[in-house]
Amino acid sequence: MKISIIGAGNVGSALAERILARNLADVVLVDVADGLAKGKALDLLDATPIMGYKKTVIGTSDYKEISASGIIVVTAGFPRKPGMSRDDLIQKNANIIKTVLKNIKEFSPETIILVVTNPLDIMTYLAYKEIKCAKHKILGMAGGLDTSRFKALLSQESGFSPDKIETFVLGSHGDTMVPLVSKTLLGGKPIAEVLAKEKIAELVGKTKKRGGEIVGLLKSGSAYFSPSAACFEILSAIMHDEKKIIPCSAIMEGEYGIKDSAIGVPVRIGKEGISEIIEWELPGNELDALKASASAVKNVLNKL
Ligand code: NAI
Ligand code: 2OP
Repeated sequence: MKISIIGAGNVGSALAERILARNLADVVLVDVADGLAKGKALDLLDATPIMGYKKTVIGTSDYKEISASGIIVVTAGFPRKPGMSRDDLIQKNANIIKTVLKNIKEFSPETIILVVTNPLDIMTYLAYKEIKCAKHKILGMAGGLDTSRFKALLSQESGFSPDKIETFVLGSHGDTMVPLVSKTLLGGKPIAEVLAKEKIAELVGKTKKRGGEIVGLLKSGSAYFSPSAACFEILSAIMHDEKKIIPCSAIMEGEYGIKDSAIGVPVRIGKEGISEIIEWELPGNELDALKASASAVKNVLNKL
């Protein structure tokens, strides 16, 4: 099984390293920037004698190399600069997504596609429209990252280790994301029994702003260690047919009353990609927030 990564920038190359470090699959890195993917691949190859990687990695600008990929991760596109929202990237990244998806359609049409490029939900839907694959074969990475960020903040605040915290963040990868307070358990107890209402609201707010906080600190580029970890979680679930529940951006056909859009919802992930979109009964305020988040994505899509 081969995993191709289109875009050998910060997220793409960090992900390549994670895949090799865990012996998950052979990797093909592709980038339009001349020499970039090849240079990154050679650098990774040179770490093999020390790290003991068992899988291979190549870097190229030639899309032919992605043929017969089991999974293709799309990290091609511009990241945010300080002060920019993810939506400010739309037009530039939409053009890139179209080009990338045309190449995927030509050279590896049967693949499962994991979209990472921002604005995530919009790019996931545009990618789907371009390739017109079965909807279970395309998913967008964001909910797993936002969930991990919420967990990290909850862990710091409460002292519970992250593996004793259960929570999920749904909705769009942006200001309208929906951390599910109703489904958050700390050490098995509902969050409201552990943390004050004001503290929960503060941590929800921090989760929504975490990506922007990191952009502001880095001054050039955006987060990539946690995004590549969140991509790895999904790839591993596909490769090992884990049927793990991870919030991902999925193509909606009426689930939660949402259609003609992609939005972050809980999905079960296995060898076929999305094996099920899980429809939880949510309290009214969270369901309304999820629908409002989907409407915000749809409004942008309608203007494109
Ligand atoms: P980066 O700038 O480090 O890398 C992007 C790479 O894409 C560059 O090397 C560029 O040459 C390449 N590229 C551009 N057009 C291409 C094309 N047509 N074909 C192949 N390669 C192409 O950016 P970084 O930090 O890796 O982020 C990539 C994207 O992922 C950005 O849009 C960013 O906002 C997004 N992102 C999304 C996250 C999420 O949670 N969904 C998390 C982190 C980043
Ligand atoms: C993040 O949330 C930039 O979407 C990226 O870090």
